[in-house]
Amino acid sequence: MLQNLVIKTAPLPLGQAGLVVLYASDGQPPAAAAAQIWARTGLDFERIAASIGFKGKPGQAIDIAGPNGLDAKRLLVLGAGKADPDKPLSGAAWADRGGSLAAKTLGLAGGSVSVVLDGTEATPAAVAELAAGLRLRHYKFDKYKSRKKDDDTVEEITVTLHVADPAAADAAIAARQPAVEGQILARDLINEPPNVLGTVEFADRAAALSGLGVEVEVLGQGELEALGMYSMLSVSQGSARPPRLVVMRWNGGDPGTAPVAFVGKGVVFDSGGISIKPAAGMEEMKGDMGGAAAVTGLMHALASRKAKANVVGIIGIVENMPSGTSMRPGDIVRAASGVTIEIVNTDAEGRLVLADALWYAQEKHKPRAIVDLATLTGAIGVALGSDHAGLFSNSDELATKLVAAGLETGEKLWRLPMGPAYDKLIESRFADIKNSAGRPAGSITAAQFLARFVTEGTAWAHLDIAGVALNSPASETNAGWASGFGVALLDRFVRDGYET
Ligand code: BES
Ligand code: MN
Ligand code: ZN
Repeated sequence: MLQNLVIKTAPLPLGQAGLVVLYASDGQPPAAAAAQIWARTGLDFERIAASIGFKGKPGQAIDIAGPNGLDAKRLLVLGAGKADPDKPLSGAAWADRGGSLAAKTLGLAGGSVSVVLDGTEATPAAVAELAAGLRLRHYKFDKYKSRKKDDDTVEEITVTLHVADPAAADAAIAARQPAVEGQILARDLINEPPNVLGTVEFADRAAALSGLGVEVEVLGQGELEALGMYSMLSVSQGSARPPRLVVMRWNGGDPGTAPVAFVGKGVVFDSGGISIKPAAGMEEMKGDMGGAAAVTGLMHALASRKAKANVVGIIGIVENMPSGTSMRPGDIVRAASGVTIEIVNTDAEGRLVLADALWYAQEKHKPRAIVDLATLTGAIGVALGSDHAGLFSNSDELATKLVAAGLETGEKLWRLPMGPAYDKLIESRFADIKNSAGRPAGSITAAQFLARFVTEGTAWAHLDIAGVALNSPASETNAGWASGFGVALLDRFVRDGYET
C-alpha cells in the first residue's frame, strides 16, 4: 500500500480525526487546549502516567484506544521533554519531534491525525520544522519492491496541525517545503541503483532543473578535454560511461553580484578502480555521488523558493571502474590548473574529480565563496562517526557561518585542522603532488589536496560527508539509507548569509 501524506493546519477545536495527539512535558499533564481535550476523557492522567512510568520524555507515549468523550479511535499523549522558557527548542529538535510523530502515528492511522500544538513555544517556524520532520521520516525508497496486485491502493493520510495562527504556520511550512523536496531529491538520487543512475542519467536529472528556471549547462568528454580537465578525465577513462560536468546557475540575486559556488563529487559508482575495493560493502559505493546529489537538491530548493541570491552548482559526474583503459597507480596526469598529479591509489578518485571542478568554478564563475561536498574519505567516518560531517576551510568567517547553519538545521559540522605539515605529506617524488598519502590523517591530506586547487584569496570550505550521507544509522527524521545531508544545511547557509 502506498501512503500519501497531506499536512494541513487548522485552529482548534478538533474536527473528526481517527487519531488525536497531545503533548505533555516534564511529568506535567497536558496543558492549555490539550488539557481540555484530555479532560473530556474523564481519565486520571497522574494515575495512568505513574502506572506506566510516563514522565513526558521524548519517545515516551500514553496510547489510549477508544477514548471516551472524543470521536477519535485513539488518543496518544507524546512526551515533549523538558519545557524551558529560557531555552526554546532548536529547529532541529522540532524536526526530530515531527520525525518521531511520524514514526508513532503513520503506521497506526487509517485516515487522519490531529495534533494539538497550541503552546506559545509552537511558533510558525517551529511548526514548519515539525512538518519537515514528518515528511522526511515518511520518506521511503521502495520503487523496486514488487507489489502484489491487490495491494496497489493509495491511502491518503492527513495530518492536521492545530495551531494558534494557522495562516502564519502555513506560510512557514510553505517556505520550508522547497528544502524538504530538495533533500528528498538528493535521497532519491543517492538511493537509486548504479545500473539505473549512470553518469548520463544523473546529468539528465540535473538538467531537468531547467524547468524551475535554473540555467543548466552540460559538458561532455570533448569539452572537458578541450579545457584540459585530465584529472577528472583520468577517473572516467576506465568506465564505459562518459563523464559529465553539470553547471547549474540560479540567478535570483542582484545582477553583478558574484555567485556563491557549490561543488559536488558525483562518482556514480566507486569500485576503487585498479586499486579495487574489497567486495564486502562495495554496493554502498552507489552513494559516492552524495555530494553532487546534495548540490542538485540544493539548487532545486533555491530555485523552487526563488531565493534572492546568485548561486552556481557544479557537479563532476564520473564512474570509477577497473578495465583495460583505466588509470594505473603510477600514472601522472595534468589537471586543468596545470598542477601535475601522480596517481598512487586509483581509489582516491574523488579528489581528482574535485580538483578540476574546483578549478572550473573559479576560472569560469569567479565566486565570492566556494563550498564543496564530497563522500571523500572513509577516514572521516572513523574520526567523527555519523553525527558530524568534517569541515575544512581556509576562512574562519566561512567556517563559522557553516557551523552555525549546521547547529540550526541539525546537520552538524566539526572543523578539522589544515596546515603546511599536512600539505607536505602529499608531495610526490615525480610530480607536483600525489593523490594519496596513506592512512595517517587521511581526511586532512585529502583536504590539503583540494586546497592545491583553490587560488589564494578565495574563501573555500570542504565538507567531507562520507560518514553522514549514506548508511547513516536511523534518526528521527530518516528511516532509510541515504540522508540527503547538506541540502537543509546549505539552504540555511544561503538564506542567512547571501540573500538580499
Ligand atoms: N568513496 C570513497 C570514500 C568513502 C568511504 C565514501 C566510505 C563513503 C563511505 C573514496 O573514494 C575512497 O575510496 N577513499 C579512500 C582514500 C584512500 C585510498 C586514500 C579511503 O577512504 O579509503
Ligand atoms: Mn574511492
Ligand atoms: Zn569515492
